[in-house]
Amino acid sequence: MLVSFEGIDGSGKSTQIRYLIHRLEQEGIQHKVFREPGGTELSEAIRALLLNPEMVINPVAELLLFSAARSQLVSEQVIPLLNEGYVVILDRFFDSTTAYQGYGRSSLPINEIREMNRIASHGLLPDVTFYLKIEPGDAHERTVGLRKDRMENSGDRFYELVASGYNELATNEKRFKTLDGRRSEQELHDQIWLHLSHLMKEDLS
Ligand code: ADP
Ligand code: TYD
Repeated sequence: MLVSFEGIDGSGKSTQIRYLIHRLEQEGIQHKVFREPGGTELSEAIRALLLNPEMVINPVAELLLFSAARSQLVSEQVIPLLNEGYVVILDRFFDSTTAYQGYGRSSLPINEIREMNRIASHGLLPDVTFYLKIEPGDAHERTVGLRKDRMENSGDRFYELVASGYNELATNEKRFKTLDGRRSEQELHDQIWLHLSHLMKEDLS
């Protein structure tokens, strides 16, 4: 089973993934977590380039670098683990590219971004995508004072566009499960677990 988490920076993805790992460990369910970009030697090297505030990267090059990192992660880690029956959890997947490089940066038309996403993810689709929906201003309040990476230096307007991109995806994609990111950590975890445990039961039957 492939599970992705999406939402703007500071929406609570890493926190919910921590709760989920704890639950999966308690339940004795084999699982593995990756953050994007990252998860392989090549993908981590690309991550360092992408997030370096000193690096000048044009919007199309940015799209291609995120996609290259993804392709390596999917082929080297995700596909083999899914074949072995693991639950694979992704802290961001190609919906981030649609929201950030598509809606945020307008690097290419959305239909071309979709095609790039299909290529980079080797046709894999998440079984479910948990979208932690939160206003950029609320997310900003949570992360104020933290050092900013290259993406996070992109300004308020950029984050408004990214958030509207996610909202558009949430209305169009059936696999999206939208959650109110302002709820408490425990409440959100309970919603996520309820949904995921149902899906896992269906998967077995
Ligand atoms: P992301 O991985 O999406 O960037 P994090 O999980 O790192 O987000 O959370 C960003 C910040 O918000 C952290 O300081 C975290 O403790 C806090 N946080 C996470 N979830 C919640 C929540 N449900 N309510 C309030 N604060 C939260
Ligand atoms: P990271 O620190 O992992 O994210 P977060 O702040 O949510 O914990 O940084 C990854 C950054 O890269 C984040 O700003 C989102 C961005 N990103 C894209 O622009 N496109 C993508 O395809 C992916 C996977 C991430």
